[in-house]
Amino acid sequence: MVKQRSALERIPAYKQGAMPSTSDVVKLSSNENPFPPLASVRDAVAAELEHIHLYPSMAAPELTTRIAKLQGVAPENIVLGAGSVEVATQLVQASAGEGDEVMFAWRSFEAYPIIAIGAGATPVQVPLTHDERHDLDAMADAITERTAIIFVCNPNNPTGASLTHAEVRSFLDRVPSDVLVVIDEAYEHFNRDAETAIGIDLYREYPNVAVLHTFSKAYGLAGLRIGYAVAQADVAANLRKVAVPFAVSALAQTAASASLDAEAELAIRIDDIVAERDRVTSELRAQGWNIGDSQANFVWLRLGDDTTRIDAALTEAGVLARAFAGEGIRITIGSPDANSRALTALAGVHAGARG
Ligand SMILES: Cc1ncc(COP(=O)(O)O)c(C=O)c1O
Repeated sequence: MVKQRSALERIPAYKQGAMPSTSDVVKLSSNENPFPPLASVRDAVAAELEHIHLYPSMAAPELTTRIAKLQGVAPENIVLGAGSVEVATQLVQASAGEGDEVMFAWRSFEAYPIIAIGAGATPVQVPLTHDERHDLDAMADAITERTAIIFVCNPNNPTGASLTHAEVRSFLDRVPSDVLVVIDEAYEHFNRDAETAIGIDLYREYPNVAVLHTFSKAYGLAGLRIGYAVAQADVAANLRKVAVPFAVSALAQTAASASLDAEAELAIRIDDIVAERDRVTSELRAQGWNIGDSQANFVWLRLGDDTTRIDAALTEAGVLARAFAGEGIRITIGSPDANSRALTALAGVHAGARG
């Protein structure tokens, strides 16, 4: 056996959402956007295919400048990655190593522990409150001298709960100024909570805040892998040092630019997804399921020991959702037909499991 890092034995394998094996199955397991690519984005990517024999620009000046303008920061504050998961990896690698702690709420985005252990650091998972939200007081209490970086996922994957601006500000007031706090806003476009924390405003107010964004969800570019961080220039420079060289393809850069051109068209799609989320939520409540408000493109059923049984019923009905054994099931908001399939399947589940 060749030498391998023993820490990797502690890494839970990233479980990709189940993949459909037949066309009669609906995939609501990966928080993907149900809409097909916009024609304008598809055309821009098709034109860029001419250049795939060349490496992409690592600095991506055009896209970087556009995003900087959009966020009201300087281009030096923007760092791209192959999906925001790669940018999250850069953030951890730049901040934490052996002996350092990486803190996040749990359950939250399942890549956080993988990234933390991969960097040689120790993940510190702070349980959510009973109403599925980050327990920011407990997180602040759990900060030690070894805490290097903290992820705040807003709204949270998989529970959909959103944090208010006031809550996150009070939390940041308790975080030492040398600890980086990353506000992961992967689902921000679906967030309709008027009180929600706004990462970019917190970034302006607290020099130890970075914000994480993705083109995978609202912009529907999950397959092209592109996301970015907004960070202070010194942090951003370090992120570029640990970034995988040339990881962000020119196709992804072009698609992201074309998507920014199509914000108005995309906004209609986002509104549709939010309307579907609200329909699914109220129909599930009418069926008797006890679910909280989700501010993301998925809903969360806390089912405990019933999780596996109910997931099997969904699978049997051709609905692939994301089950976390012993905890609950996250169901992505898909097309209206797909959502209705999920609702019909859940309506048929034994009523004893609800609430
Ligand atoms: C909270 C959160 N952050 C980041 C990501 C990563 O998305 P991507 O790497 O596609 O940008 C996801 C994906 O599911 C997520 O749920």
